[in-house]
Amino acid sequence: MERTLVILKPGTLQRGLVGEVISRFEKRGLKLVAMKMKQLDPEILSVHYAHLLDRPFYPWLRDAMMAAPVILCCWEGFEAVKVVREMAGATNARKAAPGTIRGDYALSAQENIVHTSDSLENAEIELARFFSPEDYCEYPSPLNQYLYAPDEK
Ligand code: PPS
Repeated sequence: MERTLVILKPGTLQRGLVGEVISRFEKRGLKLVAMKMKQLDPEILSVHYAHLLDRPFYPWLRDAMMAAPVILCCWEGFEAVKVVREMAGATNARKAAPGTIRGDYALSAQENIVHTSDSLENAEIELARFFSPEDYCEYPSPLNQYLYAPDEK
């Protein structure tokens, strides 16, 4: 099973869309294994978005990510990184397909509802950035036989 990070951005919280977005991942069959609400600060954002520091939009993105708390979630599932990324849709929400989270709830490249890890390698790095080992909950998954075939674990 893979694990991936989803950050529900401040606008998602302010717009009252937290339940809607989490519900989509739940209904798809992904397993929520860690979750917390956190006010981000410039230091952690400069690490999380290190690859974007020299982009002209970075100050706006940073400020937007600090405008209210975020919801940090770790979702687990077979090929979860790709599944979650495709559910989010294109970064620029105006280009995101209807039916995706961004395509249904957003109109912006910045105010685009969620951040999702873009690879398994980055998911591991990003999860370690926001979660400690004790943040993860182990619990049974009795529905797995209805969600996956035996070779899809
Ligand atoms: S890029 O342009 O390809 O490097 O950017 P991308 O990887 O698609 O997006 C990375 C994050 O940058 C945010 N973003 C923006 N913020 C503000 N203004 C503009 N124009 C803009 N374009 C991209 C975007 O929301 C991505 O945030 P995360 O949290 O990774 O989804």
